[in-house]
Amino acid sequence: MILRSSCTAKMFLRRCYSSFSSHPLRVCVVGSGPAGFYTAEKMLKAHQNAEVDIVDRLPTPFGLVRSGVAPDHPETKIVTNQFSRVAHNDRFSYIGNVTLGSSISLSELRDLYHVVVLAYGAESDRAFGIPGEDLSGIHSAREFVWWYNGHPDCSNLAPDLKSTDTAVVLGQGNVALDVARLLLRPTTELATTDIASSALDALYESSIRKVYLVGRRGPVQAACTAKELREILGIKDLYIHIQNVDLLTTPADEEEMKSNRIRRRVYELLSKAASSETSGPSPGQRELHFVFYRKPDKFVESNEKSGHVAGVQLEKTVLRGTGIQTAVGTGQFEELGCGLVLKSIGYKSVPVDGLPFDHHKGIVPNVMGRVLSNNPEETTQFERGLYVSGWLKRGPTGIVATNLYCAEETVASITEDIKKGDIFSANALAKPGKDGLIHILDDRNVKIVPFSSWEKIDNEEKRLGSLVGKPREKLQSWNELLRVAMS
Ligand SMILES: Cc1cc2nc3c(=O)[nH]c(=O)nc-3n(C[C@H](O)[C@H](O)[C@H](O)COP(=O)(O)OP(=O)(O)OC[C@H]3O[C@@H](n4cnc5c(N)ncnc54)[C@H](O)[C@@H]3O)c2cc1C
Ligand SMILES: NC(=O)c1ccc[n+]([C@@H]2O[C@H](COP(=O)([O-])OP(=O)(O)OC[C@H]3O[C@@H](n4cnc5c(N)ncnc54)[C@H](OP(=O)(O)O)[C@@H]3O)[C@@H](O)[C@H]2O)c1
Repeated sequence: MILRSSCTAKMFLRRCYSSFSSHPLRVCVVGSGPAGFYTAEKMLKAHQNAEVDIVDRLPTPFGLVRSGVAPDHPETKIVTNQFSRVAHNDRFSYIGNVTLGSSISLSELRDLYHVVVLAYGAESDRAFGIPGEDLSGIHSAREFVWWYNGHPDCSNLAPDLKSTDTAVVLGQGNVALDVARLLLRPTTELATTDIASSALDALYESSIRKVYLVGRRGPVQAACTAKELREILGIKDLYIHIQNVDLLTTPADEEEMKSNRIRRRVYELLSKAASSETSGPSPGQRELHFVFYRKPDKFVESNEKSGHVAGVQLEKTVLRGTGIQTAVGTGQFEELGCGLVLKSIGYKSVPVDGLPFDHHKGIVPNVMGRVLSNNPEETTQFERGLYVSGWLKRGPTGIVATNLYCAEETVASITEDIKKGDIFSANALAKPGKDGLIHILDDRNVKIVPFSSWEKIDNEEKRLGSLVGKPREKLQSWNELLRVAMS
């Protein structure tokens, strides 16, 4: 719920609007993931008169680089050094612990700043919409990833890894591979990463030995990339099973592989893994089963443990169409027993009040980052001064670097609009920017976390990590994070 501004805040803002003599270009970016930081970096470089503030709902910056990228991928996290350099620019401020939609509204931000760029990612999940989806033991991959990465919203997830030996991962993208790898990788190899300590403890005690990676289409269409596939196939002492019949290709598959090198490489890796398969797992060996041409039809409830998942009913599929082939059900069903299900079929963005939103695509409708207006009374096609970047702009696909090009495009649009005099000019109205924002937040008793306070968290996590041979020991609860930030 948006809190109402008090009279004092309103009076303060009126003073800000009228008394500023110099007119910096005030820019607010919402979200401190790659899209937010690349946007800030490009804006600071392109506009020497710009002051850029990033607000994020967490006390910790860097979005999915901290809470998505797997703990055993430390090289991917090096980009945070570049983002930290941006944060030390004199014309930049990080304002953490501020949520767009509850601490501050979009219309308030647009009043405070000349330019608002929304880069708040995709923090919800696609759903199957099939019976049994809310049984316990079923989690979205997003929640599971947040749990093992110490995101404070999922520190209490406590997935049960002890009551079953079988997990089913639905989806075959890189996130599905990440979660399957974390379940299967020898825990000793995770012990020296920045994995959350509670997740490491749970994985030590895990009884999960078999992971099924289920895709509704075939091995040619598996959404993962070759490097990530090679990594999971290379896990030490892992039995891998792929049905040979699933590797048969059709002319349409061959066409797909001809036009897409990644698809061919993925198919070749899977074929090679199938051909080097042994006759069966050795006792106690961990197993990874690739299951193709199967789509979930319903989740099956356990007879022994009411309300808990005991399996997934899958419908066999065939592919139809040319170009992008789609999976069509055949009416043949089979059940796959398991005690844990991780749904990894994609993330989904959520709208905030006053923001045009395409619910079907799950993105903010935009042209090269300019937000399309849905207000019939607007005289222009676009929402003046409002832009998007990253997953909120394109949908939940792409690696960290994809957001660099995405941010460049958005900043180019902003620069063009500034040149046209649409959003800012020498005699434009001064805007309160950060001072005005902080005044409102103060009035609402929102405790902000500046970058220097994040650095306290960072130092403490590194200190705790050094005691146990990890690069950092993440603080996992809101209380702990805020306590250290405010210390
Ligand atoms: C599990 C997973 C693993 C990945 N691994 C890799 C990898 O190994 N290598 C690679 O290159 N790419 C990887 N990616 C892709 C990469 O993480 C994304 O491309 C990138 O993070 C998207 O950037 P973004 O800035 O749009 O969103 P995000 O990184 O999600 O950042 C969004 C930010 O907005 C904040 N926010 C959300 N809502 C609000 C609000 N209402 N108010 C204020 N702030 C808000 C969030 O706290 C967050 O900090 C991975 C993605 C996932 C999901
Ligand atoms: N190491 C890395 O570089 C890394 C790591 C993690 C993530 N990422 C990136 O982050 C992005 C997001 O990854 P992601 O894995 O969440 O998404 P993704 O790559 O889009 O994969 C989604 C998977 O879910 C399946 N799916 C979607 N809807 C479905 C439905 N209704 N029923 C059954 N299956 C369904 C898709 O199958 P269909 O193909 O049939 O739709 C696909 O297998 C990707 O761009 C990824 O490359 C990168």
